[in-house]
Amino acid sequence: GFSWKLEDHPKFPKGKTIGLVVLDGWGEANPDKYNCIHVAETPTMDSLKTGAPDRWRLVRAHGKAVGLPTEDDMGNSEVGHNALGAGRIFAQGAKLVDLALASGKIYEGEGFEYIKECFDAGTLHLIGLLSDGGVHSRLDQLQLLLKGVSERGAKRIRVHVLTDGRDVLDGSSVGFVETLENDLANLRAKGVDAQIASGGGRMYVTMDRYENDWGVVKRGWDAQVLGEAPYKFRNAVEAVKKLREDPKNNDQYLPPFVIVDEGGKAVGPIVDGDAVVTFNFRADRMVMIAKALEYENFDIFDRVRFPKIRYAGMLQYDGELKLPSKYLVSPPEIDRTSGEYLVHNGVRTFACSETVKFGHVTFFWNGNRSGYFNSSLEEYVEIPSDSGITFNVEPKMKALEIAEKARDAILSRKFDQVRVNLPNGDMVGHTGDINATVVACKAADEAVKIILDAIEQVGGIYVVTADHGNAEDMVKRNKSGQPLLDKNGNIQVLTSHTLQPVPIAIGGPGLAPGVRFRKDVPDGGLANVAATVMNLHGFVAPSDYEATLIEVVDN
Ligand code: 3PG
Ligand code: CO
Repeated sequence: GFSWKLEDHPKFPKGKTIGLVVLDGWGEANPDKYNCIHVAETPTMDSLKTGAPDRWRLVRAHGKAVGLPTEDDMGNSEVGHNALGAGRIFAQGAKLVDLALASGKIYEGEGFEYIKECFDAGTLHLIGLLSDGGVHSRLDQLQLLLKGVSERGAKRIRVHVLTDGRDVLDGSSVGFVETLENDLANLRAKGVDAQIASGGGRMYVTMDRYENDWGVVKRGWDAQVLGEAPYKFRNAVEAVKKLREDPKNNDQYLPPFVIVDEGGKAVGPIVDGDAVVTFNFRADRMVMIAKALEYENFDIFDRVRFPKIRYAGMLQYDGELKLPSKYLVSPPEIDRTSGEYLVHNGVRTFACSETVKFGHVTFFWNGNRSGYFNSSLEEYVEIPSDSGITFNVEPKMKALEIAEKARDAILSRKFDQVRVNLPNGDMVGHTGDINATVVACKAADEAVKIILDAIEQVGGIYVVTADHGNAEDMVKRNKSGQPLLDKNGNIQVLTSHTLQPVPIAIGGPGLAPGVRFRKDVPDGGLANVAATVMNLHGFVAPSDYEATLIEVVDN
């Protein structure tokens, strides 16, 4: 039968302290002035690259290597950390929703049956991120869903849009809203009462994560459920255009607005008898709103009204909390993660990041599961992020604090694995502020140095890698790689992730001289890292894990 027991590795010893560093948003790209990692002073990461050729390589972090539908899908933290932790490639939310829509199975499950009950007498509300970024949601999936539900009897539909500008170019939201408006007009022509009811920028309205700032979720609640917002418009295209006229506003941070009728009344508050679907497939930024929509007992902010609704997620967002309890598509079953195996084999684990990435090295790492596997062997430390700021203002973020916590955990010798995420390249890269991103990369590099020094002191081993690209390319390019300009001749700043591979480096005094990267896994990706780390802990990885990246040669 099944056993959690891992086989001892014949060549790798046990008992070495492993420092496992994930640089968020740190890809490898050609050196030019839009490559902030290249521009920044990053002596530590540079030395890993140039120091030992057999101990530095690139791995794939986008597309099919991380379970996304196509090779045009950039990597992201959810799928990246899932792959790093699970050691296998699972078809991810984006892909599972595509399949369920294509086969029609999405309309045959329990989740759809549940919300369908409201179609006759109530309104169906769809809440989610409106873009084709493919990280949290996809416009074409929303379009198919709108078509599908209206063909299956939804008579009154309200869409609550969250504008993006983070997984796609800033300024692209107007176009997405126009496309949606056009679709809704077509539905109205067919007799379905379908409209946009509210909106707001994803970073300011609804899509907070890891409980960094509940005010974000509350602003969304007020607009979506209560129909209250500081801005009221008759239509959403006008709303986005008008709100963007203020130079302080961009797509990510658009203030909340509601759409009102000629009498000034909100067209789509959520009321008793309605159904709600949150149409994002990705979990982290949906967990908080899911709690507000689903939990009877909830005292985090005053909901004012808690309507009796039927709520379903596009996916179930948290497998441990079973949240939400109803969903349209089953999430990937990410089981038997490396974290769970290692804990069963006595590996004492410490994980740390600051709030905005804390769940990445815990929840995503552990296959979208919150909490410990075994609290007597694990310690997860969250360093509070600054909230209410965009991180170009504080590009060093909490990198130093994270590194110091990791250093202390390493030096305490109480842990076998010390795992961190350093957010800077990603969080600052997403702001599109190139100068700040350079500062961010330098700060992340300094943090890596602190951790490597601690590993040096205890005779341990380090593994330094990243989850996907971001800071290494800050400009949108044409097919031949030339920067693209906007109408005013300025470069089009790339706030999103990239398709680039990421580095992985191993080393430290605990690594035997003959250990090096194998040459026969040229297409290795993030999922190959788990078996690699298991080896470094002295174990053979389970046979269905993606191959280890390392071998031992006698020299
Ligand atoms: C976000 O949620 O901030 C972005 O859409 C993706 O960033 P992440 O995948 O690095 O978290
Ligand atoms: Co990111």
